[in-house]
Amino acid sequence: MIIQEYYRNYENHNQILSNYINDKTPNNILILLKICLTLLFFSDKPVFAIVNDAVKEGKILAKEKLVNGVLRNIVRNQNKIQYKKIIYPNFKKIIDKIFSSNSIRDYLYSTLFVIPKNYQISLIDNEDALYNKRVFALEKKIIKGCFVQDIGNFEVIYSVHKFFKDKNLIDVCAAPGGKSILLHSLGFKVNAIDNSQKQINKFKENIDRLDIKINVQKFNYLEKKFTNKYNSILLDAPCSALGTFRRNPDVTVKVDQSQMKKHQKKQIQMIEKSLKILNKKGFLVYIVCSFHPFETIEVIDKIMQKHKNINLHKINSDKMIKRENGYFINPLSFKEFGGSDIFFVSVIEKIK
Ligand SMILES: C[S@@+](CC[C@H](N)C(=O)[O-])C[C@H]1O[C@@H](n2cnc3c(N)ncnc32)[C@H](O)[C@@H]1O
Repeated sequence: MIIQEYYRNYENHNQILSNYINDKTPNNILILLKICLTLLFFSDKPVFAIVNDAVKEGKILAKEKLVNGVLRNIVRNQNKIQYKKIIYPNFKKIIDKIFSSNSIRDYLYSTLFVIPKNYQISLIDNEDALYNKRVFALEKKIIKGCFVQDIGNFEVIYSVHKFFKDKNLIDVCAAPGGKSILLHSLGFKVNAIDNSQKQINKFKENIDRLDIKINVQKFNYLEKKFTNKYNSILLDAPCSALGTFRRNPDVTVKVDQSQMKKHQKKQIQMIEKSLKILNKKGFLVYIVCSFHPFETIEVIDKIMQKHKNINLHKINSDKMIKRENGYFINPLSFKEFGGSDIFFVSVIEKIK
């Protein structure tokens, strides 16, 4: 909770501190002061304890006087300090690049400062559900026969599952199983693959609790030699998780171009591998919980330039926004549900 507020208010804290420090303040002191601001405004820790602990840390960093002076000044002015909704500039640039509508942009900025609502999905249709006969609010505990999933995550799979004519499907980045479980509940026989034992353990806990059977195998998808070909492949690729910024606000300040390029390289390798094992007329659905251009539009662009034997398909959902070669969840469609994580999805058919 405190860590989330630290990152949620990262830019607010930069602005507040700019009134008390100068450009020469060392970075480690800046971090210490931001932690103190987070504790002062978002915790019950007594003020004297926050200042004392920080001054002790300041002593270790040989900046005891600076820390003491700045904090005492801040505490004196505590009632006058106002938190605004300031977005970390690099993160704002990415939102603005992808979403041209001002109402979507403003809504996205505002959702960073609101703790998101949690949802759970029923394995079977239920007329009492809040959305699409499947989605329930997650309050104190998970309802029997439900699993936890973001509403946008549900929307993506629900909108694309009809492309998969063959119900034998491989989910090649499957753990902890949210999408596999939903597809299973929609009548698919899912073969799930993941290379992380830790994530697979969570997957197994989820299906055991739901009392359903899904075949889960641990291996590295990129290294595995396949003897079979498939008609239905789901690739929910590893990514920066930028689209989950409401629950993981740290991603907003950790966007790093070289890391993004690394993700892109792996995402392209995974699509290429999938195209190799996809039958003619088969469907590959590429998903990432990100809206960074490197992981979304650019990935599909590079794939389309290289492979002339594939087509992209139109998705029939009024909850998504179409871009050049894929769709983003439209967060405004889920305003009444407190917003949604942002996913990118592209539906690829192998035509030759
Ligand atoms: C976005 S998560 C998948 C989430 C999952 N589809 C769900 O809905 O719950 C990406 C997954 O890809 C897995 N992964 C990353 N590299 C992989 C590889 N080379 N082979 C197989 N799985 C991989 C990660 O362990 C991670 O669990």
